[in-house]
Amino acid sequence: MRKLEKKIALITGASSGIGKAMAIAFAREGALSIVVDIHEQGVKDVVDAIVSEGNNAWAEVCDVGQALEVRQTVARVIAEFGAIDILVNNAGIMDDFMPAADVEVQQWHHVMNVNLHGAYYFCHEILPAMVERGKGNILNISSVGGIQGSRAGAAYTAAKHGLIGLTKNIAFMYVGKGIRCNAIAPGGVNTNIGAGMHPNAFGYERMMTGMATMPRMAAPEEIAAAALFLVSDDGSFVNGEVLVADGGWTAY
Ligand SMILES: NC(=O)c1ccc[n+]([C@@H]2O[C@H](COP(=O)([O-])OP(=O)(O)OC[C@H]3O[C@@H](n4cnc5c(N)ncnc54)[C@H](O)[C@@H]3O)[C@@H](O)[C@H]2O)c1
Repeated sequence: MRKLEKKIALITGASSGIGKAMAIAFAREGALSIVVDIHEQGVKDVVDAIVSEGNNAWAEVCDVGQALEVRQTVARVIAEFGAIDILVNNAGIMDDFMPAADVEVQQWHHVMNVNLHGAYYFCHEILPAMVERGKGNILNISSVGGIQGSRAGAAYTAAKHGLIGLTKNIAFMYVGKGIRCNAIAPGGVNTNIGAGMHPNAFGYERMMTGMATMPRMAAPEEIAAAALFLVSDDGSFVNGEVLVADGGWTAY
């Protein structure tokens, strides 16, 4: 028996990196992966890759930072498939390592919108249906930047800390409704997240002081394996937890 047989799993930011690895891994375990991303061609490519392996996937193009788009996406998926068993809030962007004095209002709001508000929008839209069914599983992809002070700039750090607060609040509030909510805090992972960044010199220099202790970068599949544990019944007694997957970086 595969671990996610017949589950419907919606994964945001799933056209690249960790999200793509989770969509592929979950589908291999029997789930229908709902591949959500702002990047239309990327969504199609990941769905094609999953289907070509004989597994199930469905494409949804959505900007997670737009509440209305999120509402429409969730409504479409529930109308099509009847339910969403697993929600993974993974879509995220970097912040150029901007310290608080330098981050412009527009960039602050953009990072918050994608990295924190997007997760709230999806939880807000999907939770009522999960409560009605008496079951559901939510996973938020935070970061070691969500538990420590200088793995990125001010906006990314604040958003990822906020995501952990949202995780714990949902976990406790809905504990009697058959819903679990956890987070993963990855360390460095080889993905496209750094592409196109214009690092702030001061922020970069401060951030780099802790980089020497990073053991290595992970492959996205290593984070997907931790995700599979949390969203499957293997993690049935784990709720409100932040699983740090950083190869021991924060152990120092
Ligand atoms: N790569 C790392 O080192 C690392 C470390 C810790 C945490 N994370 C977190 O992991 C998550 C996945 O990042 P990744 O490293 O795989 O990066 P990635 O850039 O490879 O993938 C992120 C995906 O999110 C999508 N996305 C961006 N903005 C979006 C929006 N507004 N709406 C919908 N989709 C959007 C992108 O198109 C992309 O497909 C992020 O939340 C990131 O903060 C990454």
